[in-house]
Formats: sequence, structure tokens, C-alpha cells
Amino acid sequence: MIALEARNVVRMLGGDPPTTLVDDASLALERGRFTTIIGPSGCGKSSLLYLLGLLDRPTSGTLLVDGEDVTSLGGDARALLRLERFGFVFQFHFLLPEFTALENVLLPIRRLGSLDAPQAAARAQTLLGAVGLAGKEGKTPDRLSGGERQRVAIARALANDPQIILGDEPTGNLDSKNAAVVVEMFKTLAHEENRAVVCVTHDPNIAEAADVRIAMLDGRIASIDGK
Ligand SMILES: Nc1ncnc2c1ncn2[C@@H]1O[C@H](COP(=O)(O)OP(=O)(O)O)[C@@H](O)[C@H]1O
Ligand SMILES: [Mg+2]
Repeated sequence: MIALEARNVVRMLGGDPPTTLVDDASLALERGRFTTIIGPSGCGKSSLLYLLGLLDRPTSGTLLVDGEDVTSLGGDARALLRLERFGFVFQFHFLLPEFTALENVLLPIRRLGSLDAPQAAARAQTLLGAVGLAGKEGKTPDRLSGGERQRVAIARALANDPQIILGDEPTGNLDSKNAAVVVEMFKTLAHEENRAVVCVTHDPNIAEAADVRIAMLDGRIASIDGK
């Protein structure tokens, strides 16, 4: 089942001459699949991911979430959709430094507001346990290792049980052992939890682990291979 689809998506930057960040990209992200986006630095991978994650708007083209055209939704509706259905993991964890691991995971749960305080705390606790951080809920990011911080960021991304997970070089700051742990988590989210998972990466090992590989070059999708 297709969770997210881009049809002929273009992202131009104004200016003289204008710059094309993403040029006529069409792709579909299916539930249960781990997809990677690969390509040289500057080819438009992050730009495409921001469009897919409704963090940026295309200049032209169409984006569909669960078959619904979301291209021209207003800002508030997009923000709500992101909060409910998308989980983001970036290269830099963007955890709030003065907040504990638990509080960082609680933030998006509170923002959505569908759980009461004890339920929210229990959920955050469960998510941190699931990423191997039981007992570290009370630590602030500076007291966690790089791998642990990125696992908190993954727990935070999963806070509201999103069906679409987007990663932008999520292992870019990790050693190979921690990177492998994160890749396994992404695979599990797709294969065992039936989410649509897409990850921008430089790492050939991650690309190797993917079900579908999307190769970009100069803003365009050069090839899509895999099941
Ligand atoms: N807001 C922006 N203003 C100007 N140039 C940008 C902007 N965002 C991205 N670019 C340029 O667009 C190209 C694609 O960027 P990006 O999507 O970040 O590539 P990648 O993630 O593949 O490294 C790069 O040449 C980058 O410098
Ligand atoms: Mg990038």
C-alpha cells in the first residue's frame, strides 16, 4: 500500500538565474518497505526529502499522503499531518539540551494532545525501552553517547506512532557499530511494523540493506531499483 507519493515534483529557487533543486521527481513509498535515496553531495536528496516530509512546498507537482492530495494544504493542516503521520530523524539529533530523554520524547506527544499525562509518560517510557534506553530516561543529551542520543531522536520520531518515517543521513554522525544499530531499527520499522521508511544516505551499507534504492543526480531521479 502506498503511504506517500510524489508526482512530477519540482522545487525551484527564485533568483537570476533560478536554481532547480528537485526536477520532476516521481516516486511512491510503500508500507513495509525500506527505501533509500542515494546520490552525490548537493544532488538534491535533502531537498526532495523535505518536500516528501511536507517541510517544504513544491513549485509544481503533486504530493499524496494515503492517496489524499496534500499539495495545497495550509500551514496548520500540514503541521498537524506531520505531527500525526510523519517521523523525522536527521543527522544532528536536535534534542533539546536542557530536557531529559523522556521529556524530549514527550514533547511531540504533548503537542498532539491525544494522551493524558500518565499515558503520555508511559508511552515515552515504552519507546525509550524499545530503543534500548531503559534506565536512561532521566539523562539530558550531554550525558548520553552519540549513539544513545540518536536513539532518543528515533524514539521521539516514533512518539505519535507515525506511519511514514523519514531519515536524512541519520547515521552520518555515528561510528559503524551504532550506525548498524540504527539501520536495523529502520529496517524493523518497515518490515515488522509495516511503516513506510525512507532514508537519505551516503553509506553504501545502508543502501545495500534497502528494499528500494532511489538514485539522484543533479536534482533528478536517475533510477529506482528494488522490489
Ligand atoms: N535554500 C537554499 N538556497 C540556495 N541553495 C540551496 C538551498 N537549499 C539547497 N541548495 C542547493 O541545492 C542543491 C541541493 O541541495 P541538497 O538537497 O541539500 O543536496 P544533498 O542533500 O543531496 O546534498 C545544493 O547545490 C545546495 O547547495
Ligand atoms: Mg543533504
